[in-house]
Amino acid sequence: MANDSHIPDFSIKAIGIVHSCFKEKFAIPRQPALAPAARGEIELLPPYDDPVAIEGLENVSHLWLSFIFHQAIPKEGEVRLRVRPPRLGGNKKIGVFATRATHRPNPLGLSVVKLEGIKNGRLQISGIDLLDGTPIVDIKPYVPYADALPNATNSIASASPELSDVEFDAKVLVAAQEHGKRLGQPVKELIEQMLAQDPKPAYQKADPERIYGVKIWDLEVKWRYLSNALLPSSEPKGSEQKGSEQKNTLYIVSIEVV
Ligand SMILES: C[S@@+](CC[C@H](N)C(=O)[O-])C[C@H]1O[C@@H](n2cnc3c(N)ncnc32)[C@H](O)[C@@H]1O
Repeated sequence: MANDSHIPDFSIKAIGIVHSCFKEKFAIPRQPALAPAARGEIELLPPYDDPVAIEGLENVSHLWLSFIFHQAIPKEGEVRLRVRPPRLGGNKKIGVFATRATHRPNPLGLSVVKLEGIKNGRLQISGIDLLDGTPIVDIKPYVPYADALPNATNSIASASPELSDVEFDAKVLVAAQEHGKRLGQPVKELIEQMLAQDPKPAYQKADPERIYGVKIWDLEVKWRYLSNALLPSSEPKGSEQKGSEQKNTLYIVSIEVV
């Protein structure tokens, strides 16, 4: 039997908390950098809210964030050796340590994000895949020579996911731009980049009648899946373009303050 008596007891504490554009788990990109318009800030918690703790960070463009999947804390005694990553369609299982799934032995996440600046002691970050309220347990500078490995391979996730088409209803597009100005945030770009990842589970068939929704900032965005032939913007296509009419576009039908 394995002897773990030499492992000391330890606990980790949050050193900060994320204020994120993403107000629910659904539709958050599955990795950082997939939506550069996804922004937020890290509020450091005492005693790390002292400017001394971030001295030198002005030299750094990107950060590694170690965080807690606070909405995926395993139940006492729960052991999951295999998980279903969305990358494999969401219905095939592989070993938990071969995935970046949120359900893990310890609910620890790791994301590299862009450091946009520091304002009032808060770290402004972008390209995030983090839920609002995520506890941060450590921050480290990205070190390009050591962290960017040009020969690294991963044949399960060899490239970023294929992007879906996204289209706004004309009035909703204007509203998105106005909300962007009001919030001082790239709202239209965030919606485009977030929905281009198609948040619907891959095994779920797109139902054209169903309306999907998600909360970002103080907004609720709703969309439907329309085959390209049914899009308001669609024009009669030549025979060579007929195939694309079968493809679905995520068509944004409303955006409202909630
Ligand atoms: C597949 S995980 C990858 C996270 C990180 N980049 C990693 O590799 O550890 C990304 C997903 O985690 C979920 N997520 C983000 N923040 C979370 C939180 N605080 N609690 C639970 N789930 C969270 C979102 O749904 C997001 O799509």
